[in-house]
Amino acid sequence: MPDVLHILGGGSLGLLWASRCIQAGIDCRLILHTPAALQQWHSREDALLFEQQGATRALKAPAELADSSPAPINKLIVTTKAWAVAEALESVAPRLNADSELLLLQNGLGSQQAVRLRFPTQRVLYASVTDGAWKRAANHVVWAGAGQTTLGDPQHGPAPGWLSLLTTAGIDWRWEQNMLPALWMKLAINCAINPVTALHDCPNGQVLERAGPMFAPLLAELHALLASQRVSLSLSELTQRVTTVIQATASNSSSMRQDVHAGRRTEIDFILGYACRTARQVGLSTPVLDDLHRQLQRHLATLGLPQD
Ligand code: PAF
Repeated sequence: MPDVLHILGGGSLGLLWASRCIQAGIDCRLILHTPAALQQWHSREDALLFEQQGATRALKAPAELADSSPAPINKLIVTTKAWAVAEALESVAPRLNADSELLLLQNGLGSQQAVRLRFPTQRVLYASVTDGAWKRAANHVVWAGAGQTTLGDPQHGPAPGWLSLLTTAGIDWRWEQNMLPALWMKLAINCAINPVTALHDCPNGQVLERAGPMFAPLLAELHALLASQRVSLSLSELTQRVTTVIQATASNSSSMRQDVHAGRRTEIDFILGYACRTARQVGLSTPVLDDLHRQLQRHLATLGLPQD
């Protein structure tokens, strides 16, 4: 029997991956959060609108709630925001068995480790995705820019065979033997870009000019933090990596700026919070990073959004 992919979360990334799988003929089901969301989905005849370069396609996307069916879930792709993972996974836990495999697509760090502790018998894979996507409406996703997906097993196992479905779906992925350093690298990039875009309400392309003179010391602190996690690259390589992402995504709104615009909880705690806590644990002084964290917390508070 061919694998069924369940996608937990109807945010931009969940709809993007569902669209790409459905277009490739892969049996894929979306798991939505609330009965109201499911009702709205059905009222649109399960239509998922996928927009790319101005052209929109309507796709038939089956959706369900976690408890709509007792059927086991074997392959689960978790696409919720980092802060929503624990609760969302609890809702599907009765449908997981010891052979179920979970693929986590969250930004930042912290949520992945918590899932591994909660589900010690299931295989848990980590991913880092750099595609740009945003939602025009609850059922309408815009693919703003193709990116790369890095996947890996924190326990260093081999890539499971079912990942070939991602190739079928046209997802550009590669297997990384050592996934944690890849996630740390992405975290550093998110620490450098996302808070600046949220504080100054600017697209990624304006980060260097808006950040001003604090940017170089910020990168130096992030570089020291990466080194403490055995991610080896030079400061100039890190600067180059961050600058390349800024240029490649210049007109995009970062995920954090999108959250602020939507009046949604941000992933501050899984990005800056995690970085600052780790720096303290390893005895690093990171005054610029800490100050950026505090500034963002104050900014979110003035907007009435959670500060963690
Ligand atoms: O969080 C995001 O928005 C993205 O990870 C990145 C790389 C900053 C590009 O917008």
